Amino acid sequence: MDRKRQEQTPLLTAMKNYVNSDPVPFDVPGHKMGRIHTELADLIGIDVFRYDINAPIGIDILYKGGGVIEQSADLLADAYGADKSIFLINGTTSGIMMMIMGTVAAKEKIILPRNVHKSVINSLIVSGAYPIFVEPEYDQYLGIANNVLVTEYVKAMDENPDAKAVFVINPTYFGVAGDIASIVEQAHRRNMIVLVDEAHGAHFHFHEALPLSAMEAGADISAVSLHKTAGSLTQSSALLIKGTRVSYEQLLKVYSMFGSTSPNHLLLASIDAARKFMALQGHEILEENIKLAEYARKELNLIPGIQCLNPEYGQNESHGEFHFDRTRLVIAVRELGHTGFEIMQLIRKKYNIQLELAETYLVLAILAIGSRKEDVDRLIQAFKEISKMFFEDGERPILKNFHFDYADVCVRPREAYHAPNKRILMEEAEGEICAESVMIYPPGIPLLIPGEIISKNIIEIFDFYAKSGGTIIKDSPLGMIQIIDQDNWKKGEENDEI
Ligand SMILES: Cc1ncc(COP(=O)(O)O)c(C=O)c1O
Repeated sequence: MDRKRQEQTPLLTAMKNYVNSDPVPFDVPGHKMGRIHTELADLIGIDVFRYDINAPIGIDILYKGGGVIEQSADLLADAYGADKSIFLINGTTSGIMMMIMGTVAAKEKIILPRNVHKSVINSLIVSGAYPIFVEPEYDQYLGIANNVLVTEYVKAMDENPDAKAVFVINPTYFGVAGDIASIVEQAHRRNMIVLVDEAHGAHFHFHEALPLSAMEAGADISAVSLHKTAGSLTQSSALLIKGTRVSYEQLLKVYSMFGSTSPNHLLLASIDAARKFMALQGHEILEENIKLAEYARKELNLIPGIQCLNPEYGQNESHGEFHFDRTRLVIAVRELGHTGFEIMQLIRKKYNIQLELAETYLVLAILAIGSRKEDVDRLIQAFKEISKMFFEDGERPILKNFHFDYADVCVRPREAYHAPNKRILMEEAEGEICAESVMIYPPGIPLLIPGEIISKNIIEIFDFYAKSGGTIIKDSPLGMIQIIDQDNWKKGEENDEI
């Protein structure tokens, strides 16, 4: 990385020059650089509107290239050790759709973990690709899916030598990364390309104590949510591209197909600024962040009834080769005798602390570059009080412990999505083929996807989530499920079966 070059902000500077030149706006947006005064301007200031410009002369058009946006994208690529980058304004969600649509054609195979974000499943529906699912390691005590072992990936690659791509999550929402370098090596040896969901790994590249970044590991493409952990505004992400296995032109084609023709320049400029910040100060601030997380873990682990995952979590006997993002605070609360959902609500109501997410047995607190010691101290104090409230020595009420298994896929997601379907009661759905995605949000990882056979276990799990306050997102109303109407379904070609 060229530190001197990284001091530049081509897009941000061009926007500043444009606004300072005080142009007379006869283009959109209609608020005309803040000439009308809405309540939002009172709240957050008129400058947000002044800089909310569309694509005036001198600023460049997002999809065209050759101007300041491309110069800023080159600097981002340089900061991440990539060859090319593309700025995204619809999150990593859109980056994932772009990379799958841009590399895997209908009916080509892609090897991927089952615990992927919903955008991956939606990409399969839109693209018509065949998923070859590999099973993540499952931590039954914490009730979370972790990453996938290299041996699982290699088995799938050997059984499907015609697969076009391998998809890796680096890391999971809970900060668990796999041995990405070995997965890349095995995939490239077989001429398969490697696509990486790095929504939660935008900070990895800037500190050696964090898991390996996709670009360092030699992956072909990665989608990074700069907004999550690298300081840009919500929804701003980027695609990073390395080498020549994927076609940059093909990615751009998909980009302009899905992207708005009125991209938000505040989001784009926030990537430019965050990139400069991370490139020049990222290492130092992450060093502080890691120390702060270590302090938090130490203090939290002294509190009765609370267990905060240690960085060695990924490398103990049952989670052999994984690496853990040491800035994440995964806090197990099951010994308090309450679900993570209940603890998350309580901590918000009583202590005004907003956590990232809850699962049945844990809550997740994300420390990132903006976190401060006083915030961490409030979190520790809140958990001390909560522990006093609920934890007594001796036996705790045992929470229901279900064994989690993902369902079996029997039809390609695209085929299931387009098949005639009907809604039935969830409790009557055992053995039917699902025709919608059903997920708990966050994290937005579907528990059921179109084409999967609905098992008794899954029905029980939904019942549990519905009663315990998890937010369930699906097309049909609560208690119902959309299934393939098999009486009226003419199954597709034979090779639509998996
Ligand atoms: C694992 C994973 N992948 C992808 C995404 C999508 O990222 P974004 O919110 O930037 O669209 C998320 C969002 O939380 C996620 O958790």
